[in-house]
Amino acid sequence: MSFRMERFELDVALKEEIRARVLGEGFMKIVQTLRRGGKVFRIAMRPVEIGGERKFQAEMTDDGRVMVKNFSVDAAADGLEEILNQKGARDLHLMTSKGDLHLRVTKKGRQLVSRSAEMDRVAVVRPHDRVKKLPLNEFDSSILLRVCGISDGTGKVRASMRGKYDQVNEFLRAVGETVKADGVESFTVVDCGCGKAYLTLALCCYLSEVLKIKAVKVFGVDRRADVIASARDMAARLDLAERAIFEESDIATFVPDGGKVDMVVSLHACDTATDEALAKAVEWKARYVLSAPCCQHELQKAIGPGKSGEGSAVFSGLLRQSILRERMCDILTDSFRAMIMRILGFRTQVVEFVSHEATARNIMLRCEYGVKPGQSGPIGEYLALRDYWKVVPWLETRLGDKLSRYLERYL
Ligand SMILES: C[S@@+](CC[C@H](N)C(=O)[O-])C[C@H]1O[C@@H](n2cnc3c(N)ncnc32)[C@H](O)[C@@H]1O
Repeated sequence: MSFRMERFELDVALKEEIRARVLGEGFMKIVQTLRRGGKVFRIAMRPVEIGGERKFQAEMTDDGRVMVKNFSVDAAADGLEEILNQKGARDLHLMTSKGDLHLRVTKKGRQLVSRSAEMDRVAVVRPHDRVKKLPLNEFDSSILLRVCGISDGTGKVRASMRGKYDQVNEFLRAVGETVKADGVESFTVVDCGCGKAYLTLALCCYLSEVLKIKAVKVFGVDRRADVIASARDMAARLDLAERAIFEESDIATFVPDGGKVDMVVSLHACDTATDEALAKAVEWKARYVLSAPCCQHELQKAIGPGKSGEGSAVFSGLLRQSILRERMCDILTDSFRAMIMRILGFRTQVVEFVSHEATARNIMLRCEYGVKPGQSGPIGEYLALRDYWKVVPWLETRLGDKLSRYLERYL
């Protein structure tokens, strides 16, 4: 073996650790990325369940071409050896329920390993049909996709629309996992900041055709006249005009015809439009909220070197870097949103709804009303974080008395 090959050989103990983590309990995913001659080669492996049997699914990306293959546990162990014995500079990220391991092998063959603190995550082994059974395949969506311009005349998803196609699929999947449709006769949704209405129209079809709800009404709201006009045109072409109703309006001033709203959704509604959607969900007493936030600028004005109190001082090294500050503020904004929804009686989960490789805007707040509002746990957490950063999130201001009456008891 040449010196060049040997220097990329991983330490025996490290290989052993990776094997134990991948083949043991709690394995979630391993991804190795290699760049060679300007091309990217990536292999990702994760556990799946096929017909009740544990398997491993490998996704190989060879300079943009993706191939997926499922392996038995034994075959996956062989595949893992190939990953471990790969030569060349590379990055490896391993996720298990107990934590993450990052390995960077430099061009000179140095191995830089870091491990996260011990975690207690739940490793979900997804049924295999998650891969194949896309919500947009659960009903005849071909015309819908064509009319929306997601697919071309031959029915093929356009390359430029692949991201949108994936987002709509994942959003609908979340709808399917969230909405309890048994015995539900009528269901009203407001899509806040509906834009070109890909999601609004797909949602309308999905609720009727897959969840089999008889009387579905979906309102798409956007302040842009051009998108509303085109959405109305598409709804008419799809014979959905009575069920998918589009209004040119600010979310703040929109009043749903009929009053009752069961679910509020928002997909990448800009900045505080997400907060407005959450506030409306509270005011309309919606049972469900699915919201994937977009850009968030509000806290960036308040948090940063020299801008705020204690928090900013402790984090000054981080906050000086604008990218890190931006991400930190995004995380804080979404944390505040989730906590406020919990205080107001919504069971709230923060989940990734599409791969973070597809878009950095892949966080989704999934809420269902149903717990007693004003509980001390979420209030305590919220106040501690808010007061640490010395900020008042816009959603708190927006909700005014609805929230302050709970907070005041603890101040
Ligand atoms: C990034 S686009 C997302 C569109 C769509 N939800 C999607 O994911 O394809 C955000 C949309 O929200 C709309 N929007 C932002 N703030 C709004 C507000 N306060 N009221 C109504 N519409 C708003 C914008 O006009 C834009 O069409």
